[in-house]
Amino acid sequence: GLKKKEVHVLCLGLDNSGKTTIINKLKPSNAQTQDIVPTIGFSIEKFKTSSLSFTVFDMSGQGKYRDLWEHYYKEGQAIIFVIDSSDKLRMVVAKEELDTLLNHPDIKHRRLPILFFANKMDLREAVSSVKVSQLLSLENIKDKPWHICASDALKGEGLQEGVDWLQGQMQ
Ligand code: GTP
Ligand code: MG
Repeated sequence: GLKKKEVHVLCLGLDNSGKTTIINKLKPSNAQTQDIVPTIGFSIEKFKTSSLSFTVFDMSGQGKYRDLWEHYYKEGQAIIFVIDSSDKLRMVVAKEELDTLLNHPDIKHRRLPILFFANKMDLREAVSSVKVSQLLSLENIKDKPWHICASDALKGEGLQEGVDWLQGQMQ
């Protein structure tokens, strides 16, 4: 068949937000792993949608590895930014990392689509995706298309909506 268009996506966000769990769920079931461990450095993953072939740089969110992120910014054609909606204490840290990302010279002046997952919506202490977007001041992002989806990566809920949006942005 026809070869799908290849796109490079960076998956960013704090440690324990659910990045690897989300990417794993987007793979075909026979390619999914059962036990997910904290990412060391980064991992390159692939999944396909109806029209695109995604290569994802699944970065570690641990503080000691966050300095690695910027080395991949030039390569990225889109960003998936994952937030643990139940981690109110670290929401401000997530915002700081997002602001640093948005102000980076390799990101600042590019019209990169950003897909936000307000993840862990299944947890009782989770705040809504509207609240997450307020806490991260997403309304201030005016020069890039962005979209936020509530997700439960354990059940896979909300992921398809997000990826459909991203695919639409990358055609
Ligand atoms: P790093 O690789 O360290 O940056 O973390 P990560 O963002 O890749 O997080 P990871 O996917 O490893 O998930 C961290 C923990 O959160 C795991 O125990 C997951 O099972 C759990 N988790 C991920 N998504 C969800 C979710 O939607 N709901 C709940 N309740 N737990 C989740
Ligand atoms: Mg990970």
